[in-house]
Amino acid sequence: MSQNNKITIGNMPELPYAIEEAVNRLRVNMSFLGEDIKKIMVVSTMPDEGKSFVTMQLWRQMAQTGVDSILVDADMRKSVMVDKYALQREDGEKINGSSYYLANDIALDQAILKTEYEHGDIIPNNDNVVNPSILLESRKFADMLDQLADRYRYVFVDAPPLNLVSDGERIGSLCDGAVLVVRGNATPKNMVKNSVRQLERAGCPLLGVVLNRVKGSGSGYYYKQYGSKYGYYGKNYGSGDGYGYYGSKK
Ligand SMILES: Nc1ncnc2c1ncn2[C@@H]1O[C@H](COP(=O)(O)OP(=O)(O)OP(=O)(O)O)[C@@H](O)[C@H]1O
Ligand SMILES: [Mg+2]
Repeated sequence: MSQNNKITIGNMPELPYAIEEAVNRLRVNMSFLGEDIKKIMVVSTMPDEGKSFVTMQLWRQMAQTGVDSILVDADMRKSVMVDKYALQREDGEKINGSSYYLANDIALDQAILKTEYEHGDIIPNNDNVVNPSILLESRKFADMLDQLADRYRYVFVDAPPLNLVSDGERIGSLCDGAVLVVRGNATPKNMVKNSVRQLERAGCPLLGVVLNRVKGSGSGYYYKQYGSKYGYYGKNYGSGDGYGYYGSKK
C-alpha cells in the first residue's frame, strides 16, 4: 500500500515579531541544555495556559532552522490540534494519531506525518479517549518516545495539565526534562509550586518556565530559564495581553 503521510497545516498562526522573537530565544536556549536533552515535555498546572501553543511554535521554529524535530501530541483526552491547526492529510485519508497508534497495530511510520517543514514531523492526536492512562502507562508509549529520540534531535511532547490527572507525571517520567508554561496573573503560586514538586517526583528536570499570556502591553510572552544543573540562566521579555493578537495565515 503506497501512502503519502504528508499533511497540510491549514491554520498556522503568523506571530507578531515580539512573540516570534521570544520563541526564538526559547529555541536557542534549548540548545544550551546539552545533547542528552532530547525528549522535552511542555506542561502546565491548569488547562488553557498555552502548552499546545508553545509546543507548536517551538517545534515549528526548530524545524525551520533545520533541526530535526517531532511534535508528539500526548493530550489524548481533549486534544484540539487537528481542528485548530486544520491538519489534513494530502491523500485525504483520516489522520491516525498518537492514541490510535498506541491502541492499534500500526507501524510507527504510519503515525508519523510529514509537513511543509522539511525537518518537522508531527504525531497529532486525532482520537480523544476517555481514559488514556492505560495507553500512556504502556511499554509501547515509552518505546515510541525512545524510538523518536533516536531519530530526531528533539521530541516535543504536548502534555495535558498536571492538576487534573496523573498523565502529565507519567509523561514527565519518560522525558529528559520539562518546560512549564504558566499563565500570567492566573495560576496561583502554590499550584505552580505543586507542579514543580510533581515534576520532581516524576524525576523530570525542570528546564525552564514560560510565563505566557501576561496581561498588559507587548508580546504576552515571557520566558525564563533556570536550573543550576545546566548552568544557564536566560530570560525573554514581553508583557502583554497575549489574547487573539495574531491572525491566521490565509
Ligand atoms: N502567547 C500566546 N499568544 C496568543 N495566544 C495564545 C498564546 N498562548 C496561548 N494562546 C491561545 O490561548 C488558548 C489556549 O492555549 P493552548 O490551547 O495552547 O493552551 P493549553 O495549555 O494547551 O490548553 P489545554 O490545557 O486545553 O490543552 C488558545 O486559543 C491559544 O491559541
Ligand atoms: Mg493543549
